[in-house]
Amino acid sequence: MKSPLDNLPLGLICPSCRAALEWNGEALGCYACGRRVPVKDGIPSFCDSDAFYEQYISHHVPYHLNPAGLKGAILRLLPYWSWREWRFWRRYVPRGVWLLDLGCARGREIFAERAAGCVGVDTAFSALAECARHYRMAVQSGMNPIPFESGSFDCVVTSHVIGHIPAAEKDDLCSEIARVLKTGGRSVNVIETDSLHPLVRFAKQRPQLYYRYFVEPVIENPVRLAAAEVALGAVHYTLGQWRYPLDHAQFIAAVFEKG
Ligand SMILES: C[S@@+](CC[C@H](N)C(=O)[O-])C[C@H]1O[C@@H](n2cnc3c(N)ncnc32)[C@H](O)[C@@H]1O
Ligand SMILES: [Zn+2]
Repeated sequence: MKSPLDNLPLGLICPSCRAALEWNGEALGCYACGRRVPVKDGIPSFCDSDAFYEQYISHHVPYHLNPAGLKGAILRLLPYWSWREWRFWRRYVPRGVWLLDLGCARGREIFAERAAGCVGVDTAFSALAECARHYRMAVQSGMNPIPFESGSFDCVVTSHVIGHIPAAEKDDLCSEIARVLKTGGRSVNVIETDSLHPLVRFAKQRPQLYYRYFVEPVIENPVRLAAAEVALGAVHYTLGQWRYPLDHAQFIAAVFEKG
């Protein structure tokens, strides 16, 4: 079996003692503390799968293709959040870089097409198996530590991940992102957030209806959610506040540079 790091300008570290891992022909091993990291189907495996995310991703998270053709044209006009995110990635993800996608699930075409080399980290093995077909490398791991040597990446992205990390662990995650970034590197993040938008605050005055139309559909009925988003987007557009449509309030788009 060949090393998963063959021809990659990257080094993996031991999650126990942070020494460099070395390939022994079958697995990655830490000569400092003896830890062994198996490699399954070319994917280094630092942890077990999380049953909740395996299930969640299998139902709700595809490989995110760029919107193309007629769909792409329509999305440019509609106040859809997916289009706004894509536009954000296009604006801030640099080209020709080594990019780390944390909590990648199956991955994103916009990252794969931009980066010179794209690496995905997630705990969900089945999603990583697909991600590995689009990215240069997929790694099954948590994020503390991120199992790469310091200064490995020009760009680290997170898409709808930081909201899933417990509050007590967010500072460590930020430190880890900063550690694996090169000096001058960039971290680009879409962070889920509860909405402070006036229309959503208004909708929340009727909690049962809000739950029925805005919370349940996220889990159960994407078509109804899309209809609700378009309806509120249209109302908002009509009110003349098109610069700040509803969907902007449901995530924060954050970019950080490592000085
Ligand atoms: C909402 S999904 C987002 C997936 C993908 N980034 C996207 O934009 O569609 C959150 C992802 O974060 C991953 N995740 C959550 N906590 C994690 C952790 N501690 N370490 C690694 N991945 C984690 C989950 O397995 C899941 O794939
Ligand atoms: Zn070790």
